[in-house]
Amino acid sequence: MTNIILFGPPGSGKGTQAKFLAERFGLLHVSTGDLFRYEMGNNTPLGQEAKSYIEKGELVPDSVTIGMLKNKLDANPDVKGVIFDGFPRTIAQAAALDELLAASSAEVDGIISLEVEEAEIVQRLLLRGKDSGRADDQDESIIRNRISVYHKETAPVFNFYDAKGKGHKIDGMGTIEDIAARLNTTVSAL
Ligand code: C5P
Ligand code: MG
Repeated sequence: MTNIILFGPPGSGKGTQAKFLAERFGLLHVSTGDLFRYEMGNNTPLGQEAKSYIEKGELVPDSVTIGMLKNKLDANPDVKGVIFDGFPRTIAQAAALDELLAASSAEVDGIISLEVEEAEIVQRLLLRGKDSGRADDQDESIIRNRISVYHKETAPVFNFYDAKGKGHKIDGMGTIEDIAARLNTTVSAL
């Protein structure tokens, strides 16, 4: 299996690029944010719990997110590999992911961080909020909170894998096509 974490702050282009990579390399795209939004759309108990955090730009508790991720992997046992988009967001989630993959004799092969300037991500999110319908993209104070949570809780996940020699940084500024080309080069070399 080839398992890749596509990493970076909200608005760095993870979702857009993960779709391309999944297609090009035949991997399963797993976006925990999309899974939460699906649950919220269906107003399930999981969706209702997640909503109370997401609407503030906070993280859903690790146990909830890890349980949902495990269900998704269990439902797709025969994949060639996975692109993780928006997960893991905490060190506890990273440790849980390593454990889940190890149970199938697999591991995280690389973490690729999309490097984007902060002013640019705020602009991208506000723009996306105009047609995505996502309430958490429409309010600048929620966006700022998501970025602050990213710096405090999520950024250490990169160092966790980088310390094992698995970290890669990509310039996430420029056109979607340019960024996709940089990612293809990095993933091909993993
Ligand atoms: O990944 P995405 O930006 O779509 O996630 C949207 C929201 O879902 C996050 O701001 C956060 O509230 C929640 N989330 C989370 N834990 C994750 C992924 C998403 O709490 N691992
Ligand atoms: Mg996303």
